[in-house]
Amino acid sequence: MTADDQKKAAGRAALEYVANGMTIGLGTGSTAKHFVDALGEKVADGWIVKGVPTSEQTARQAESLGIPLVSVDEVTHIDVTVDGADELDAKLRLIKGGGGALLREKIVAAASNKIVTIADASKFVDVLGAFPLPVEVVNFGCGTTLRRLIDIGRAHNLDTHDLDFRMAGEIAFKTDGGNLIADCAFKAIQDPEALARDLSDCPGVVDHGIFLGLSSLAILGTGEGVRVIKPE
Ligand code: 5RP
Repeated sequence: MTADDQKKAAGRAALEYVANGMTIGLGTGSTAKHFVDALGEKVADGWIVKGVPTSEQTARQAESLGIPLVSVDEVTHIDVTVDGADELDAKLRLIKGGGGALLREKIVAAASNKIVTIADASKFVDVLGAFPLPVEVVNFGCGTTLRRLIDIGRAHNLDTHDLDFRMAGEIAFKTDGGNLIADCAFKAIQDPEALARDLSDCPGVVDHGIFLGLSSLAILGTGEGVRVIKPE
């Protein structure tokens, strides 16, 4: 089974946690794309749902499948959000933002009654941080902010040799909000809660990809079928 097969199995299994009539947060990335495809089939079969997209990319996909969309500001609540992750641990602490959508993903997640995280088995880790942590940073003073991120990493005894702005070819990658992403290869984040607090307090940081206490359950695609994980 390839990683994409596992992503597809997880994405389709997430259908069990949504129902006709719901307002559903639609995640971003290759795993979430499988969920949106599966939801599109349900809509084609007659389900009436409202989708809240977490990126322009997901909005385009959902529109092409005929899934009616609303913005997060147009709803009082979101029943369930289904989204991918770059890493997750047994406490369902996540690193997200590999696709650059972490800010919208976190806003939609925080407005959701339930969050189902979907991923292939390789994303399940003992310690977060092997995947470079995406941190969304405003353009103004971005060099200063990057130096502050290095200082924060040092204060947490993290590896700080490989922190830099994400590129899209020759130019800086820009998020849907027009900001930059600093990919911070901290390697092993022993205390995600403390790091999250310090990153949030850093001037110039819009948000970071550490998601704490948000995910209600995770569905992992594995070589032996899907595995459901509840937070420890
Ligand atoms: C996008 C994300 C994605 O959920 C994360 O990058 C996982 O992506 P994929 O499902 O393609 O592995 O956070 O910002």
